[in-house]
Amino acid sequence: MADKENTEITYKVLLLGDSSVGKTCFLKRYIDNTFQDAYLSTIGFDFKFKNVTLKDGKKVKVQLWDTAGQERFRTIAKSYYKGAHGIVLIYDVTSKRTYENIRKWLNQIKEEASNRISIILVANKIDCEGEREVSKEEGENLATTSGLTLFEASAKDSINVNESFQYLIEKISEKYANINSNTTKLNNSKNEKKGCNR
Ligand code: GTP
Repeated sequence: MADKENTEITYKVLLLGDSSVGKTCFLKRYIDNTFQDAYLSTIGFDFKFKNVTLKDGKKVKVQLWDTAGQERFRTIAKSYYKGAHGIVLIYDVTSKRTYENIRKWLNQIKEEASNRISIILVANKIDCEGEREVSKEEGENLATTSGLTLFEASAKDSINVNESFQYLIEKISEKYANINSNTTKLNNSKNEKKGCNR
């Protein structure tokens, strides 16, 4: 059993992006370091847990939600945003359409998710260099204009999979540590005020 008492914090992370960009494969590579060539479209959703050690040694549990990219599941997907701390937003470098649709996903995220949510952009399938429709520069431009960090990755060749998740989880943890310390500060000043009013 994993050391339960050290993994009390659970972060919810969603994988989003168009159908067949590689969300399931990206998650599978991260969770059990495997890759499957056959395409089985996700119906609805699936989720997995992983214990992650942060660079300061702190351990957190991450609940990773693999969502269906197909349009017909898009409205159901809205409920997945509830309580989410982070998003891995994926497009496929061999499909310009999936890159162009990132703006749509960002609009939906803006409407549905907490404004504290941390997001990273992943350009998947860079192993297919000869079939590229989206250059690294285009990816970086989109990332810059959207205020996101881009990871060019391959679930197939295991490039930047662990690195991107680790980056996101560290970012979430930093954000929530700040929120907690601000809350503590607020609580302390509340107590001080109470003391003064007596
Ligand atoms: P939906 O469930 O429909 O939303 O799709 P998805 O985004 O989960 O895509 P999935 O992971 O099922 O992958 C779709 C297809 O792309 C499969 O045939 C995978 O083998 C392939 N694929 C995924 N990642 C990579 C990659 O990094 N490189 C290559 N070459 N193929 C990949």
